[in-house]
Amino acid sequence: VSPTLRRAGPDDLAAIARVDSRGFGFHHDPVDIDDLRPLFEPGRYLLATEDGPDGEEIIGVAGSYSFAVTLPGGTVFPTQGVTWVSVPATHRRRGVLRAMMTAQLTGFAEEGVALSLLTASDAAIYGRYGYGPASQERTVEVDRRYARFRTDAPDPGGVRYAEPDRARAHAPEVHRRWAAATPGAVARDGRWWDAAFHDRERHRGGGSALFHLVHPDGYASYRVHPGDVCKVVDLFAATAGAHAALWRVLLGLDLVSTVRTFACPLDDPLPLLLEDPRLVRTVGLRDGVWARVVDVPATLAARRYAVEVDAVLEVADPLLAAGGRFRLRGGPDGAECAPTTRPAQARTDIAALGSVVFGAHRWRTLAAAGRVDAAGPVPGRLDAAFAPERDPRHGTHF
Ligand SMILES: CC(C)(COP(=O)(O)OP(=O)(O)OC[C@H]1O[C@@H](n2cnc3c(N)ncnc32)[C@H](O)[C@@H]1OP(=O)(O)O)[C@@H](O)C(=O)NCCC(=O)NCCS
Repeated sequence: VSPTLRRAGPDDLAAIARVDSRGFGFHHDPVDIDDLRPLFEPGRYLLATEDGPDGEEIIGVAGSYSFAVTLPGGTVFPTQGVTWVSVPATHRRRGVLRAMMTAQLTGFAEEGVALSLLTASDAAIYGRYGYGPASQERTVEVDRRYARFRTDAPDPGGVRYAEPDRARAHAPEVHRRWAAATPGAVARDGRWWDAAFHDRERHRGGGSALFHLVHPDGYASYRVHPGDVCKVVDLFAATAGAHAALWRVLLGLDLVSTVRTFACPLDDPLPLLLEDPRLVRTVGLRDGVWARVVDVPATLAARRYAVEVDAVLEVADPLLAAGGRFRLRGGPDGAECAPTTRPAQARTDIAALGSVVFGAHRWRTLAAAGRVDAAGPVPGRLDAAFAPERDPRHGTHF
């Protein structure tokens, strides 16, 4: 039986938070709820409900945030960031998630949302709905006691500590410039910056309050945790100089032994700034953001391509019937993509398309995994065109 679905109203936030806390094992207190309220767009939340002994009971939640995301080549593209997905343990495996995901994606298609994103707590769930892993992020640890910068590494300086109000005023502009140059980057509006600066004690994981570092072209925040560990919370650099300057300060924290950062892209230049690149130890590597192409021609026409491409792609999308055969013609300055009856050069599924949209994964790798069916040189040619200017990074957990 399919569950009853309805849109949330403004008064549903506390009940939604209760469902979420049961799914993720974390209680939200009243301060959390107040902090979350500005980000809560009730109409963007689908609730699955049933009649319980005390009236309506919420048995599933799936929401989304309205974001803008940067595509390769710099196009800023509207998207929905799917979030707050949970079904209580008492109601699992009855098709509640499937009903919510199907309704949510159908709604996106109807309102013209061409691309949706999410971050997955479990990587085995969302592929069936057409989401593919679309960036990779790694957790990196540096034993800073041994870290020496190369003698020829840039040392531009210019970093200052800032109190939260000054850092809050500075960070958004730097982040905007960082995001404009970073495929997959999710824009943060004022509400997201407020959320980043709430810095409530119970969300510090035992660490200090945030320390903020500002540079004319960069921003970083970190906490110091027991055991002399510095955990970098945010680090955005709009220039290579700001990146080097911020890292020089972080690796210069004398009483800290380990500097740990999450969400470090694979092409981060930090190892190459050091005399011993191995000190930048990758201690975790996983999918970052996931992408679901809802409108194939709109999404593929919006991004730019590293070299000229002219290819017919056939994309299977049984869930939304948004697939078909499309001719993509594009290059560094623009692209167009439209349905065609010409023969396809590559056949793939919609989730695989999500994995190439920001250039995180390669057509050749997907072909080797049996996810792309294309003759000889085609995947390689597509890789040359889909290559991003730098590794994608979304930069904000949601
Ligand atoms: C994950 C969760 C949302 C699944 O909800 P559900 O209502 O039980 O899912 P459904 O019954 O609709 O199942 C949908 C499909 O996903 C599969 N599935 C569900 N949970 C899965 C899991 N944890 N791992 C792998 N597959 C899973 C089901 O087998 C089913 O597959 P099928 O339709 O292809 O046969 C729910 O278990 C939950 O809330 N877990 C805790 C919070 C969480 O992890 N949320 C996701 C955060 S990003």
